[in-house]
Amino acid sequence: MRVIVLYDSLHGNTKLVAQAIGAAIGDEAMVLSVTDTAPSDLELIDLLIIGAPTHGSLPSKPMYEYIKELSDAVITGLKRLFSILENQ
Ligand SMILES: Cc1cc2nc3c(=O)[nH]c(=O)nc-3n(C[C@H](O)[C@H](O)[C@H](O)COP(=O)(O)O)c2cc1C
Repeated sequence: MRVIVLYDSLHGNTKLVAQAIGAAIGDEAMVLSVTDTAPSDLELIDLLIIGAPTHGSLPSKPMYEYIKELSDAVITGLKRLFSILENQ
């Protein structure tokens, strides 16, 4: 199973959580910053795990914008979408 753990992180906490999740999954997981990927990268994966800080009761702006860009076609191709909104 091909997995992307996608994160945004202002102060590094969400990045640490994303890296820990990626390490627990193992070689099948790629841990990527939302600033280093595009929605089209999801076409070849089976599972997307998202983590972002909460800013003003929403996912941080880079992740919010990314999620808005995800097309129905890309989402439909995913077997699973698992979202974590990191908080303190
Ligand atoms: C500008 C800003 C806005 C925030 N807004 C919220 C909020 O609305 N609700 C909340 O529970 N936490 C809020 N937080 C706290 C962050 O979500 C929290 O500290 C998070 O763990 C930071 O993750 P990071 O280290 O990956 O950046 C805010 C933090 C910042 C810097």
